Amino acid sequence: MRYLIGIDLGTSATKTVLFDEAGNIIASAAREYPLYQPQNGWAEQKPEDWREAALETLKEVVETSHINKEDIKGLGISGQMHGLVMLDEKGDVIRPAIIWCDQRTGKECEEITQRVGKERLIEITANPALTGFTASKILWVRKHEPDNYAKCRHILLPKDYIRYILTGVFATEVSDASGMQLLDVPNRCWSEEVLEKLEIERGLLPKVYESIEVTGMILPQIAQKTGLSVNTVVVGGAGDNAAAAVGTGIVKEGRAFTTIGTSGVVYAHSDKVVIDKNGRVHTFCCAVPGAWHVMGVTQGAGLSLKWFKDNFCEEYIAQAEKEQKDVYEIINQEVEKIPIGSGKLLYLPYLMGERTPHLDPDCRGVFFGLSAIHNRNNMLRAVMEGVSYSLKDCYEILVEMGMTIEEMMVCGGGGKSPIWKQMLSDLYGCHVNTVTAKEGPALGVAILAGVGAGIYRSVEEGCQKALEVKVGCVPKEENRELYLKYYQIYKALYPDLKQEFRRLQEL
Ligand code: XUL
Repeated sequence: MRYLIGIDLGTSATKTVLFDEAGNIIASAAREYPLYQPQNGWAEQKPEDWREAALETLKEVVETSHINKEDIKGLGISGQMHGLVMLDEKGDVIRPAIIWCDQRTGKECEEITQRVGKERLIEITANPALTGFTASKILWVRKHEPDNYAKCRHILLPKDYIRYILTGVFATEVSDASGMQLLDVPNRCWSEEVLEKLEIERGLLPKVYESIEVTGMILPQIAQKTGLSVNTVVVGGAGDNAAAAVGTGIVKEGRAFTTIGTSGVVYAHSDKVVIDKNGRVHTFCCAVPGAWHVMGVTQGAGLSLKWFKDNFCEEYIAQAEKEQKDVYEIINQEVEKIPIGSGKLLYLPYLMGERTPHLDPDCRGVFFGLSAIHNRNNMLRAVMEGVSYSLKDCYEILVEMGMTIEEMMVCGGGGKSPIWKQMLSDLYGCHVNTVTAKEGPALGVAILAGVGAGIYRSVEEGCQKALEVKVGCVPKEENRELYLKYYQIYKALYPDLKQEFRRLQEL
């Protein structure tokens, strides 16, 4: 039997999973790390924490699996997109990484739009200037920390920093590079024009590969540290969403998935480049060579529930510890008892600003309709419903763009919640299914590694061999009608509050 490893560098933890070539999990390990928020709307992490998490989890899966290291044929890395990692000439980290949900770069986005031109920027990078994307973060460091910028010799995305640690190679691949706002997305290469207009040196960027291509091999010192073989190939891998797509079999037209991770995503595969002229959803290269995907992103999906749980659900956390249960299982049970609409309470999940559909770094979270009758469980349900409405916003835009969505898969931590899945099915009005494998992005990049290592002939063949689909939820008409009434009110709230969000940030 041959084996493959997938590393998923998430926002809350890094998870490393060892699979056999049939997609069965042989061993897995995870390490958490902190998120630093030095100011309202800022978000940073330490690349050193990611490095330790990757190395420790690799060692653990190799050790606990008790397999011959030479049988581990390939390794793929997936991870949170857009983060800015800057390295000096020795390859050392210069400053903490500014990550995807950081919102400090509103001014830099205006500068990018002005330097490149709004339409031209969308034509080349397939997206308008966005605070979450890497280019504006580069400009921010150049303006606010000129000394750090002067020391910078390499710019990497989070997962590509782990590749550098494992292989010593500076490389990226098309799906993650699409989120830097420096890639010519239709042509799958760096855009000389954008780099020139933003005055970013081409030499700072790594070489771009396709996701299935071999980018390097495990370094001898890393092999020694982790128990891996120097013969294991490391492929391009993919950004977390493109990787989750492969891990849930979304590699053909007509197929789509929703993730509820820290952020929430609605993603549809496309064989051609389709761009929303208003820039409300992203078009990126996907992990299947020669194909793209369109996706809407809600910034605070699982993040909203985690925030509410961490700050207001101490009793449930204690109960979970006592009963040795997952706290989200208890939350699901409690939420199930509250009727649809949470007792006329709505939640806007804009804790970290919002991308789809508002593209607004200044908006913030709202509970609307609070009454003395409400308790914590109404608020918990409102949070889950609010996130679902926000995902419905993304879904609606994809449909409006002419994407055909015949089947919706669901994944991510929130995708394990039966009640959240049913909410999505009712709101979308379509079947919402899952795959048996729970490790979406890690399995996705392991499949890509399998293609790179010659185990599968194509990404599609890898998905056929390693995935099994489980039928999930069917929409319930009576729920749907009720949810859609609340959704209409949800949609009206943002335009009413837009100016006040701005004024609040300006205080
Ligand atoms: C995608 C995005 C998030 C991050 C974090 O554009 O910002 O999905 O990749 O998971």
